[in-house]
Amino acid sequence: MSLSHVWPKTATIAPNGHLLIAGHDVTELAAQYDTPLYIFDELTIRTMCQAYMHACRACGATDAVVHYAGKALLNTAIAQVVHSEGLALDVVSGGELALALHAGVDPHHIHMHGNAKTPRELDEALTAGIGAIVVDNLDELHLLIAKTAGRAMPFAIQIRVTPDIATDTHVHIQTGHYASKFGFPIEQIPQVGALLQHAPGLRLTAIHAHLGSQIFDAHTHVAAIDVLLEQVVALRNTYHLPIEAVNIGGGLAVAYLDHQQPPDITASVAAMWYQLQQGCVRHGLPRLRLELEPGRSIVARAGVAVYRVIGSKPVRDLPRWVHVDGGMADNIRPVLYGAKYTAVLANRADAVADEVVNVAGRYCESGDFLLKDVALARPVVGDLVALAVSGAYTLSMASNYNMVPRPTALLVNHETIRVMRRRESYADLWRMDA
Ligand SMILES: Cc1ncc(COP(=O)(O)O)c(C=O)c1O
Repeated sequence: MSLSHVWPKTATIAPNGHLLIAGHDVTELAAQYDTPLYIFDELTIRTMCQAYMHACRACGATDAVVHYAGKALLNTAIAQVVHSEGLALDVVSGGELALALHAGVDPHHIHMHGNAKTPRELDEALTAGIGAIVVDNLDELHLLIAKTAGRAMPFAIQIRVTPDIATDTHVHIQTGHYASKFGFPIEQIPQVGALLQHAPGLRLTAIHAHLGSQIFDAHTHVAAIDVLLEQVVALRNTYHLPIEAVNIGGGLAVAYLDHQQPPDITASVAAMWYQLQQGCVRHGLPRLRLELEPGRSIVARAGVAVYRVIGSKPVRDLPRWVHVDGGMADNIRPVLYGAKYTAVLANRADAVADEVVNVAGRYCESGDFLLKDVALARPVVGDLVALAVSGAYTLSMASNYNMVPRPTALLVNHETIRVMRRRESYADLWRMDA
């Protein structure tokens, strides 16, 4: 039996009704590795990486650079997989940088982002010799100018601007609007230009914007390219800063629900590239490189979270609460932005989903839930609830709330089952206590 497009590419249902990922029985994996369990399908991750690389080549953006935004999910194996597919890597902290270096990612292929990078993190990025620091505000720029004064070779930076473009996404994940905490407002660009003109230790290579996440309409990106190009013209003509690239960030949506259709990556990238090329011609600019930073769309669909049903509670006139052994500490998205998911029972994936239930997390917060008003096949104690599209912004935001060890993450393909991250032990919970 086949499953919808929200499940990993290799997901199927076996004749006995069990959910399979890359041929592995999820019920058996749950028994062997315990629950909650995150299972990542390697083929889906690689396919998504290749989709971006192919999209760039197909439209003629042959020198485009695709950075995987590590904040969506980062560990050694993931860094290695995306790097092996030819993607560069974006980090947002010294910790992510250290992990990327540990995983063997070439520092030249790393960019560092963040609205509040600490002086220490900037030093770490400078020392590692990363590809570029994406500067977010004037204080950071002043600090970097001071830190790089007297360098023999100028250090590459990009500047992040807020193009003030509205997006069709949740307010918590909009970042390109004027009031966002991220990036330079357009009116500060002349100040940036004037400062960089007299900053021999820095080399401005690109202008950057990231508009937000889970954006279905790539026209938003296309519109932002025009705004960015106007700033490139000003920075080149007035301040003689030889910008080489426009970095349009990440943000393309994924389908979490069966009725959703994610934007086509080939068409979206082509539309961005076309706008960039046309804009360069219109403004009399040389050909500029396109840079992209997808995170969610690389890893979200690959991940399936598997929880064990522990109990339930009837509620008069409302759906029954079904209690599972994970929740907001491994996936805070439902609580944080009301995120909705598709789910099946992994051990009875072929059964008719004829009961509408609410799936409660195990954490001691009234607001902790994973699913609301979702149809499942009358879950009972011991059943396994599998949540599709759980790969992005789940484990990377996980915590030890209530002193619950964070779950195992597996990376599977048809040949192998690899533990990417082992389940924390109780001893891990006090390993840092002093
Ligand atoms: C600067 C930047 N680039 C890229 C991304 C990745 O976005 P997404 O995961 O929606 O593709 C983010 C996410 O917030 C970001 O802040």
